[in-house]
Amino acid sequence: MVHRFRGSSKRALTIALGLCVLCTLFLISPYAFEKGTDGRQLHEDLAYDLPFAAPSAGSFQLNQPPEQQDALRQQQQVLHEQKPVAADSHQNHLDDDEDEDEDEAVEDDGLPTEYKDDLLPSESRQKLKFKIGAQALRSFLTPTVQAERRVAVGYILRQANNAYRNQTVYSVVRKPASKIPPSGDRHDYSSLARYFWRNPDTKDGLPYVRWDGKPNPEMDSVWDYRLMRKMFRDCVFMGQAYFWTGEERYAEKIVYRVKEWFLDEETKMNPNLKYGSLIFGHDLGRAQGVLDMFKVYGMFDALKMIEGSRAMSSEPTLISDLQTWFTDYLDWIDSSVQAEQERNAKNNHGTYFSVQYVAILEFLGLTKEAKQYCEEAKETRLRPQLQHNGAQPHETARPISFFYSTFNLQGLMLLAMQAEAHGVDLWHYKAPKEELVVHFNKKTSKKLKMGGATIEDAVWFVSDYATRDLSEWPYPDSGTRDLPDVLKMAKIAKLVYGQGNRPWKKMIVKLEEKILQDKLEKEANEADQDEDKDNNVAEDEDEEKKEAKDEEADDNEDTNGFLCELGVLSKGSLWHCYK
Ligand SMILES: *[C@@H]1O[C@H](CO)[C@@H](O)[C@H](O)[C@H]1NC(C)=O
Repeated sequence: MVHRFRGSSKRALTIALGLCVLCTLFLISPYAFEKGTDGRQLHEDLAYDLPFAAPSAGSFQLNQPPEQQDALRQQQQVLHEQKPVAADSHQNHLDDDEDEDEDEAVEDDGLPTEYKDDLLPSESRQKLKFKIGAQALRSFLTPTVQAERRVAVGYILRQANNAYRNQTVYSVVRKPASKIPPSGDRHDYSSLARYFWRNPDTKDGLPYVRWDGKPNPEMDSVWDYRLMRKMFRDCVFMGQAYFWTGEERYAEKIVYRVKEWFLDEETKMNPNLKYGSLIFGHDLGRAQGVLDMFKVYGMFDALKMIEGSRAMSSEPTLISDLQTWFTDYLDWIDSSVQAEQERNAKNNHGTYFSVQYVAILEFLGLTKEAKQYCEEAKETRLRPQLQHNGAQPHETARPISFFYSTFNLQGLMLLAMQAEAHGVDLWHYKAPKEELVVHFNKKTSKKLKMGGATIEDAVWFVSDYATRDLSEWPYPDSGTRDLPDVLKMAKIAKLVYGQGNRPWKKMIVKLEEKILQDKLEKEANEADQDEDKDNNVAEDEDEEKKEAKDEEADDNEDTNGFLCELGVLSKGSLWHCYK
């Protein structure tokens, strides 16, 4: 077990290793998208106030008397006793991050915290032989990259261990009674539209009205979105951790989470997103809500990773049950108004619709259809989205134009990866050059030079501006730029396209310099501010806090890179990429 160092030596080490990894590794980590797409910040402590899913308790209300809440908690424990949770000792302070006892319990439960060569299971070695393009992964096992490996796998294991230890019920049934969607069925997933508020002109506040740019914190009272995404993310990390360590507990917990979310009678979600991005006072959610599901490919991938585990063999119907669920869900997609709109969206919503749709087709074994769908993406996605110079007009037309340009491109790259596995080349597809009237919405349209550009040109376009001063970006932009995300795309581009058309190597160096420069500037600014500040807090304490924060940030960066390497260098750690 590694005892984590403290203080500046650790910080220096982390930064050094972090940079090292950043420079070496790749990232299109879908997990990096989280903050941008929705930026939903939830109040952590809300978790404790919400009722837990109570098996067979029927409906329950908010603000239950404490005894009843205890009963619910006990029921939750029963639920969790069905799976092997090692540290019973911290069951009493569920979710209590601050609790010191929990830290101890954490150290004692025997989960690995670092990668050791002898941990790599023989099945994983087997996978490394047969997985398409696993060479990069294999090279990750050579002694020369030991340091990166330690940092990266260490991060994965920490995330996986947190996921493993988390005993919160992840379920749509946890939403408060007052937020059950119009169907009256708590099992119907719902998420709340971000910029909509109670109507001041009506008694009941309905229908909610738009207040642009001002997110309604009421959104945080419904956890369906948050818990579903957390579930996918947990599965990804635990799947990776299982790959590196063969620790059966991770596989068990993945199986547990999947059943809890999709299959168990008490807690399951119905197979639709009818009430995604719901505005109160409307009968149905909006098309935008369909996006909520796109990261499901991470869960499919995790299930593939734990194939052959004991947990999976003791659940022989899990995959077919889940396939039934997704068959129903696909029926909903194919017949719902919202999904139809989402499918027809010309911007990132359309792109991510395809990513989701292809992943589900693959999971259902509908390979022919998946291939067909990827083929059609040339016409439906690339052709209307790429301008001759590599700009993406549907994204640059938005107020947060740089972010959405990056976000959509990440989706296109994911889609190109999926397509590649079906022998469809989106990477090099170039739509015919044409002048087109591009409709942004019902009111706005513009004649633009479309076509003649590949995904590579689009990545170049964004990367190039990323290295320049913010003010040079030729579109209005009220958002921020995430340069590490751009860097990752550039690295993938170098990998996919080589040096043939564009000097990617140089671009990558430039981006790295820019990121470092921004970082140093930011630190200098912060230092200035700290000096100006007249603070009574002991300096040491302050410094320590800051270090902890920096460390967390570094941690996040480098390992996303690693996940991406798994995903990209090995041609997707996606479902279809295993033979
Ligand atoms: C478990 O996950 C939930 C949902 O994301 C989160 O609110 C809670 O803080 C987590 N608990 C722990 C102990 O990490």
